[in-house]
Amino acid sequence: MAFKDNYRKISELDINDSVKQRPVLLISVAERAQKNGGSYIDLKMTDGFEKFDAKMFNTDMNFIENQNVAAGDVVDVDITVQSFNNGKSLRIDKILPSQSGGTPADFLVSAPIDVNAAFDKVTGHLKAIADSKQGKYTSITDLAYNLLVKNKDQFIFAGAAKGMHHDIIGGLMYHTYRMFASATLLCQVYKTLDSELLLSAVAIHDLAKIREMSTSPSGDISYTVEGQLMGHLYMGAEMVNDYANAHPDKYDPEKVMLLKHMVLSHHLNPEWGAVRGPATAEAQMLHYIDQIDAKMYVYENRFNDLKPGQVTEKVPFGLENYVYKPLE
Ligand SMILES: [Fe+2]
Ligand SMILES: [Fe+2]
Repeated sequence: MAFKDNYRKISELDINDSVKQRPVLLISVAERAQKNGGSYIDLKMTDGFEKFDAKMFNTDMNFIENQNVAAGDVVDVDITVQSFNNGKSLRIDKILPSQSGGTPADFLVSAPIDVNAAFDKVTGHLKAIADSKQGKYTSITDLAYNLLVKNKDQFIFAGAAKGMHHDIIGGLMYHTYRMFASATLLCQVYKTLDSELLLSAVAIHDLAKIREMSTSPSGDISYTVEGQLMGHLYMGAEMVNDYANAHPDKYDPEKVMLLKHMVLSHHLNPEWGAVRGPATAEAQMLHYIDQIDAKMYVYENRFNDLKPGQVTEKVPFGLENYVYKPLE
């Protein structure tokens, strides 16, 4: 039995429940100003199943330092679940170094797949297509293959988002892997799609998230300055451009342009960060596949907290509707 299974999931606690000396991994800790003066502490933590935000009121970083705890440590906390805005919020009443014997590795929330095997599957498929093609230009799948191989270590470790979907270690690989599987099947249904282009774009559409965000060893995902100023669509198109320019005459310039267009348009409209709307069938399909995976992830994740017959307290971020878990 894994260490985390010795304890009740924090998501299963009800309002007004409290638990004492619950070991958790402290992901990040920051002091914030209270509206009515003074300060409180904002904590991000995980029980090994999910990440949680929690608050410790009327205190400051000096107190945290005096308790001998810091981000990246396993700590024991006394937690009380309170009602807030039709949902739950966690109040921490006590925090101390853990007596449980748990290590940070026992708590890391990571993708439920073997990320190395998934990486090999995606890159192997791209390489096989490139190797099977002859002609004036090398297949654009070779460009996607090389960008992934160059960035493998970061790509398989990174989370895919700060919140909302795939905000876990290996999340970017998990997201890409499932989209790649969908794209492969959809190319068999919609046979006019350029599968080389679609599979290449799926593989690298979010690659620049490795620069847009950074994932700490304890799984804390935050935006970089570069990421905040430019975003992963522009940065991704730039990676494609740089690689193509470094290998002149290797790839068809038309395909390079279309691949850049797909990266730049995969968020559909400017409010969501797209530089242009999708102008090709492949670009439109990339957007749909991206949406399918992001939304399915939200359902899967919410299902973890719901009992059969239960509905969410509020509409989860990224969806338009409440989530209901059907009876078994
Ligand atoms: Fe994206
Ligand atoms: Fe995506």
